[in-house]
Amino acid sequence: MDLKSEINEENLPQHIAIIMDGNGRWAKKQGMLRAFGHENGAKSVKVTVETCARIGVKNLTLYAFSTENWNRPKLEIDTLMKLLVSSLKRELKSLIENNIKLTTIGNTDKLPKSIQKELLEVITKTKDNTRMTLTVALSYGSREELISAVKKITSKVKNNIISIDAIDEAIINEHLYTQNLPDVDLLIRTSGEHRISNFLLWQIAYAELYFTDVLWPDFTEDHLYEAIISYQKRERRFGKTSEQIK
Ligand code: IPE
Ligand code: IPE
Ligand code: MG
Repeated sequence: MDLKSEINEENLPQHIAIIMDGNGRWAKKQGMLRAFGHENGAKSVKVTVETCARIGVKNLTLYAFSTENWNRPKLEIDTLMKLLVSSLKRELKSLIENNIKLTTIGNTDKLPKSIQKELLEVITKTKDNTRMTLTVALSYGSREELISAVKKITSKVKNNIISIDAIDEAIINEHLYTQNLPDVDLLIRTSGEHRISNFLLWQIAYAELYFTDVLWPDFTEDHLYEAIISYQKRERRFGKTSEQIK
């Protein structure tokens, strides 16, 4: 069965976010080092990005490195950083050809200078692209993002730029790293773990959650279609009754 043909293009999630997990276990299963898993995970990233753009998803956010991932062994962090630079270099052409805009969320100041430079180049060269926004969460933690938003807002209150009474959802949204993105509609996590791991806590308030046992390097176009088809079968009620929706 051709899964792609089952997708209703009128009801695509506007924003898909993915916790790409399982690279290490994938490598271990075949007696290889974790780095091998990350290298193969990069291939799944490429397929997922290009497929989302092709079918018309407007926003894709990928969790690549968390604030907690800084606690991994230095060797693994170095490997991940090197892989990131080489992937950015390699994929710039494809991002431009596919009209995809790259942005990041997270505390990228903490990343090595070589990565910051490469990121800046790709962000600048793709900034006017309009087909899809690809956001990479790098050195990202949702709690850190919320703390940073609280600091920015309270400083504006202190300086009489906004009043306490004016603080609402829109103001909070504007002060998050994701300020220009819509809420997440579909959150996917691979590798069988059923947790959020400090990812987009505010933005997933009403997201549909989709967990799969597939390890990230094994994640294919068809697995993405399966997730979207599952999303499209659900009724999103946003607190209302089913009768109100129909
Ligand atoms: C996801 O795979 C990639 C990152 C977190 C950077 P893992 O490296 O977490 O792989 P597992 O969970 O150990 O299998
Ligand atoms: C979450 O994966 C972070 C990324 C996918 C980048 P982890 O593998 O680090 O998550 P935990 O620590 O097992 O929850
Ligand atoms: Mg993991």
